[in-house]
Amino acid sequence: MPTKAYCRSFQAVFNVGSRLMKWPRPEVVSGPGSIAKIPELLRKENVRNVMVVTGPSIGKKLAPKILSSLDESGIRYVLFSEVESNPTVNVVNRIQKLYLEHGCDGFIALGGGSPMDAAKGAAARVVRPRAQVGQLAGLLKVMKKLPPFIAVPTTAGTGSETTIAAVITDSDTHHKYAIMDLNLIPRYAVLDPELTRELPPKVTATTGMDALTHAVEAYTNVNYNTDETIRAAEEAVVGVFRYLERAYLDGNDMEARTQMLTASFKAGFAFTHACVGNVHAIAHTLGGLYNTPHGLANAVILPIVMEDYGEVVYEKLAHLAEITGVKNSGSTEEKARAFISEIRAMNRRMEIPTGFDFIQEKDIPQMIFWALSESNPFYPVPVIYDRERCEKVIRRIISEANPVG
Ligand SMILES: [Fe+2]
Repeated sequence: MPTKAYCRSFQAVFNVGSRLMKWPRPEVVSGPGSIAKIPELLRKENVRNVMVVTGPSIGKKLAPKILSSLDESGIRYVLFSEVESNPTVNVVNRIQKLYLEHGCDGFIALGGGSPMDAAKGAAARVVRPRAQVGQLAGLLKVMKKLPPFIAVPTTAGTGSETTIAAVITDSDTHHKYAIMDLNLIPRYAVLDPELTRELPPKVTATTGMDALTHAVEAYTNVNYNTDETIRAAEEAVVGVFRYLERAYLDGNDMEARTQMLTASFKAGFAFTHACVGNVHAIAHTLGGLYNTPHGLANAVILPIVMEDYGEVVYEKLAHLAEITGVKNSGSTEEKARAFISEIRAMNRRMEIPTGFDFIQEKDIPQMIFWALSESNPFYPVPVIYDRERCEKVIRRIISEANPVG
């Protein structure tokens, strides 16, 4: 396990490097009905046979509209609609195989994080056919331009439509890891709030809390941030606080749906530069081991980790408390604590649990190892966890499932 000094030195070097890198940005097409512009985007990129990647229920409900617009435009497609949550290496390989068999020349990823991540993984394998998915895990291993890639989120949370990351689970070991490369940033992000209209409240809640976690983790990280990522994270936090519960209570509230897509995109922009942190690192272990939905895991773990960080994050959380209107008076500590309490209150109002009692004792050492391997040395987290501290947090996630008193 790397030492704390090594982690901070690594981050200092990467910080300099990241400022020299050319970060592509997706071209954003947004607004109700914006999916109608997809054929035009494909024509612009000379795509004639597109691979459409999605999940089973979206494949039935939302894909047909896009597919019929492709038919009308004379663009051929191959549909893969079997991406389940926490996509596996096997799924990525199947998509890559189909893509090559049918001679496709571009991707549309339609869905939440899972179809987007699976499509990104497959696109990476298309340009790096000799590398297995596991060999592309980590930072800057793809290093080759992907085919034209259009990301169409159907949830407001993952931010995958703007990020460098694809999170994949090893089918055999259940290890969940990320491929991170600038080439994984999609060429286009189509933000159509109509696609999120029928999301069940529970999914709206947990995916929205994922967006909040992206913003808060990026914001509290101690390196890699720029003025622009700080502003994006702040705006994302304000957006989630203002609109998530509106979208949760009334899925047809198109203003709330639109604002949540924007907040999610901004949070994605912030964390793709400034990274996530220990919340995500632990949440990923739950996704891999127990298939816990990603947003749900983050929603539960976020307040616990922020509380555990303590005073090192008070100043930043206090500022978030002010700009969200949670608390404008009192000490820095009081404001920071009020902000964390408000996250817990949002969870409660949206019926998100306070902890998880399904975590098994035998899995804890593995969780600690995976979480620390993900965070360190790369994530510039405010507190670098060692085994003991990570275990303490995991045990709190268990004990808070049934809080005493
Ligand atoms: Fe996330």
